[in-house]
Amino acid sequence: MNKSYYVTTPIYYVNDAPHIGHAYTTLACDALARFKRLDGYDVHFLTGTDEHGQKVEKSAEAAGIDPQEFTNKVSQNFRDLADFMSFTHSDFIRTTEERHKKACQDIWHRLEASGDIYLGSYAGWYAVRDEAFYGEDELKKGPDGTKIASTGAPVEWVEEPSYFFRLSNWGERLLAFYDENPDFILPKTRRNEVISFVKGGLMDLSISRTTFNWGVSVPGDDQHIMYVWLDALTNYMTAVGFPDTEADLYKKFWPADLHMVGKDILRFHAVYWPAFVLSAGLPTPKRVFAHGWWTNEGEKISKSLGNVIDPIELVNSYGLDQVRYFLLREVPFGNDGDFSRRAIVGRMNSDLANDYGNLAQRVLSMVHKNCDGVLPEPGLFSDADQVLLSAAKDALANVRAKMDVQAFHEALEAVWVVIRQSNGYVDAQAPWKLKKEDPARMNTVLYTLAETIRHLAILTQPFMPDASARILDQLSVPEDSRSFAAIENGKMLVAGAEMPKPEGVFPRYVEDECDS
Ligand code: MSP
Repeated sequence: MNKSYYVTTPIYYVNDAPHIGHAYTTLACDALARFKRLDGYDVHFLTGTDEHGQKVEKSAEAAGIDPQEFTNKVSQNFRDLADFMSFTHSDFIRTTEERHKKACQDIWHRLEASGDIYLGSYAGWYAVRDEAFYGEDELKKGPDGTKIASTGAPVEWVEEPSYFFRLSNWGERLLAFYDENPDFILPKTRRNEVISFVKGGLMDLSISRTTFNWGVSVPGDDQHIMYVWLDALTNYMTAVGFPDTEADLYKKFWPADLHMVGKDILRFHAVYWPAFVLSAGLPTPKRVFAHGWWTNEGEKISKSLGNVIDPIELVNSYGLDQVRYFLLREVPFGNDGDFSRRAIVGRMNSDLANDYGNLAQRVLSMVHKNCDGVLPEPGLFSDADQVLLSAAKDALANVRAKMDVQAFHEALEAVWVVIRQSNGYVDAQAPWKLKKEDPARMNTVLYTLAETIRHLAILTQPFMPDASARILDQLSVPEDSRSFAAIENGKMLVAGAEMPKPEGVFPRYVEDECDS
């Protein structure tokens, strides 16, 4: 196998319990990883936890436990969430691991060797919540009159000796890099924001701290610990074996194909990270995609408002495939979106139960009842049959083109176009009437539909793995014939195959339950 694909989630701060935002970013990567595997790629899918820095140190202090013990505990919650959500990550990295310390120190040496590190002192604003330095011009007045960052995070004045990275030298080279790699930052609107930020002029970046201890020491100067973002970003290389650039994983997967991030952390990934990687003389990642944020019933999600959405509760209420479908279908990926019970129930009942579920259920039930549970032999395909069969076959190329630009909502819409077309075909062909009038024609219609549903269920696997597998089981599609190669090899369903008794895969969500 020679096609490889490396996708990463941000590594999550362990100061807090996992919430919908974390589940969303990882879900998007999971759908992509599953898609690429089905498309014949060898996929490396990385997630993990960001365990150093002042924010985590403070949370450990508040919990009254040692930071390592604290991170062990909270990191486990993120692993548990990933298992609960059945994510298919290949590795779960923790920045407190030994392998990562080695990688951080090596990258430091590389930046130093490039002449991009110097010792100075930092006097300025720092927001622990964002783990970010802010210029005076980026601050505003908070409700109580104190200064806050534009993100709403409180800031504090910091004065300390610090090593700096000569980011100011990298502006022109970054602009040239964005120019040569037009798809490095997606969506395009975010790309424009980054470019204007860089054009506005870059200041050197403080990359070490001395006023707390929880981090990786600067090589050769253990008074300093590395800035948590330099430490954190390096995880993407640690996980593929860096600093051993001869490691199999590194050779196969670096540079990463995609860093998936939320819009709030784009600057770190699209400005600082490529500058560090270029300065280190290493190949730059291919893409950073910044997705939007969820609100809850129109309100910003925040602990103080008490409206944090717990992904576990969500899945327990609506089902895993349903939540996956909703999150990836409801909002154009990249935009902000609003979570509401009404919206998820609407999607479950219309798109899943009425459109997809009903299609599969009525076709498979007719095969079961009218054809003795055996897939019937088709006769000659009519024009209408061929139109539907080729729409089903073409859907893969359409979905692939959308997945290549992380347009999950459009990928799903491309599948739904065929689902709706199939339902229209069922109504027009009325196979239930054909049983007496023209059983041979009924067989052809039911075969055409079963074959179309096979394509649909193969394509929905990355989004709704369980439901899709159940539909494929009901069509008696063998496990080894569920990849995209099974669409492209032109082999159709084998007539005469026994089909088990069908069961509904997408139940309707009962209205009075949702009104409560
Ligand atoms: N530790 C850094 C990332 C370092 S990567 C080298 C970090 N961690 S985080 O835990 O705060 O990250 C959270 C991720 O969840 C980000 O991608 C962020 O955009 C996302 N979300 C947090 N709240 C969110 C919503 N309300 N909606 C969608 N995603 C949100 O940043």
